[in-house]
Amino acid sequence: MLLSRIATTSARTLVRPRAAPLARFLRHGSSQTVRSTAALIDPAVLSRDDSSKVGPGLHAAESLDALLHGSTKKPNAQNDFTETAVADGYASIAPTRAQTIAQPEQPEFTEVEAADHAWRQTNHIWSNDELDRVSIEKHEPVTMSDHFMKGVMNVLYHGFNFVTGYDPVDPSPRSVAWRLIILESFAGVPGFVAAGFRHFYSLRTLKRDHGAIYTFLEEAENERMHLLVCLKMFEASPVTRALCVAAQFGMTPFLALTYAVHPGSMHRFVGYLEETAVQTYDNLVEKTTTPGTKLHDEWDGLAAPGIAKAYWKLHDDAKWVDCLQHMLADESHHRDVNHTFATLPEGAPNPFISQHMKDFDRAATAHAVKKLNQ
Ligand SMILES: [Fe+2]
Ligand SMILES: [Fe+2]
Repeated sequence: MLLSRIATTSARTLVRPRAAPLARFLRHGSSQTVRSTAALIDPAVLSRDDSSKVGPGLHAAESLDALLHGSTKKPNAQNDFTETAVADGYASIAPTRAQTIAQPEQPEFTEVEAADHAWRQTNHIWSNDELDRVSIEKHEPVTMSDHFMKGVMNVLYHGFNFVTGYDPVDPSPRSVAWRLIILESFAGVPGFVAAGFRHFYSLRTLKRDHGAIYTFLEEAENERMHLLVCLKMFEASPVTRALCVAAQFGMTPFLALTYAVHPGSMHRFVGYLEETAVQTYDNLVEKTTTPGTKLHDEWDGLAAPGIAKAYWKLHDDAKWVDCLQHMLADESHHRDVNHTFATLPEGAPNPFISQHMKDFDRAATAHAVKKLNQ
């Protein structure tokens, strides 16, 4: 009896997937969720599995209409976007849990395809002209709080230089590699803290947020993409990983407490943090493009990773230094956003909304054109 139970248990263990679904979800997020969410918002993906309804011979305008309105019906059929129709449409396309589990062979999106953010948060795509005009200006502390935050940042900056062995005059690639991973790992925290606090504040006070939640979520995602791009270029050692954990657990309570007491002070602190990031990336771009430096010796001519090309819409032969230049531009934008919110009166309209709208229009148009050309 006992032997029989052991044999049964062993057989189950052998055929069991390597990790339970919950554990896989916690570790990696749900790739199935990504797939099904994309299917819900991307009509072209829907039509891929149902080409009989759309047909290959659509006229361009009708295709565009189908793309913009999410129709999977024949182009001449009437589109009724009532609540019921939308709900029915959802029911017909939303995979049941049983279906999602039963169809693991469904094609995955590649990492590079997922790095195109047109379907989630739209990042600003920098033009060459904008990249040339990135400023490295710094904010002069005015209030006591400004001076305190600037002092904290100075201590952190020089301590960080010491720990990472970063010599700004001629930095070694190794010192930069783990500096960037730790920096970007931490830089994704404040935006999320700000977005979270503002979200809950709006819910409990029944007040509008004027779009700032989105601004900070986009900033957090932008920093996380910086991290993912850096991880395509450098290995994270166990020490680097430990420092990322320490930075997150050490600094998040400080940021959250500061935001709870005085939101403007946290934004000022982040503004100073972004100034140091601008300083670092500006130096890296300069050194990588200057013959005779350690960075030029190792990094000159390195190709940009695919996810960076998709995220910033870089050309096919883009280099690693182009990524550094785009990260520099992103950091300068974070600096300006956070210094702006450090002094913006409570309840004031978000001055960055119009830019978000322009970025979205541009991404949506580019996405529609790309689909029409497929
Ligand atoms: Fe960053
Ligand atoms: Fe940043």
